[in-house]
Amino acid sequence: MFHAQILTLFPEFFDSPLSCSIPKRAIAAGIVAVETIQIRDFATDKHHQVDDAPYGGGPGMLMKPEPVVASIRAARDKQPDTHVVMLTPSGSRFTQAKALELIEKPGVTLLCGRYEGFDERICDYVDEQISLGDYVLSGGEPAAICVLDALIRLLPGVLGSPESAVLDSFSEAGILDWPHYTRPEIFEGKRVPEVLLSGNHAAIESWRRVQAEERSKNRRQG
Ligand code: ADE
Repeated sequence: MFHAQILTLFPEFFDSPLSCSIPKRAIAAGIVAVETIQIRDFATDKHHQVDDAPYGGGPGMLMKPEPVVASIRAARDKQPDTHVVMLTPSGSRFTQAKALELIEKPGVTLLCGRYEGFDERICDYVDEQISLGDYVLSGGEPAAICVLDALIRLLPGVLGSPESAVLDSFSEAGILDWPHYTRPEIFEGKRVPEVLLSGNHAAIESWRRVQAEERSKNRRQG
């Protein structure tokens, strides 16, 4: 079983996405176990403070090192082989290749921050830093659920057909998915491309490849 731990100030954030669809089924089937750990439980002061103002000034608050590092240690105590990932906009970009790499670990611990970020010293206690993309979310939680969802669907036995995970967009180094069509054959005057109705599998395959390459060229410059 793959073990995912989430260090967060908002464990309830994960309730809904993990109780639907594929993640729900994967958890029920015992393929993945997800545990949230409340960072605030590791604050030792009277007010359970987890954030503080930045040295040197500037807006916002930073996650304090003591409770965050204590929560990382608690995660490692529970799962000694866990791979600890900090979610931060200054991390390396998350990709399908990274997802395939992370599912080979015995488990992951996803560290979510709020406020303006983490005290830099916390970085010494994590295995890597991952960003979902070049935009700033209000916290690590939405990034963590995306990473976790991408991992769960790749775990053996989660998807109905093992082919679907393999054939997806990005599985083939940066090539986007081709366009898909289902019934009806004509929707508001728009026809399904003729080749898809032809039954000619070689022609269909070659059409899909051309479409995927064209899309990749137009939507991603390289
Ligand atoms: N926290 C805030 N923004 C983020 C992003 N883009 N990726 C990962 N974690 C984040």
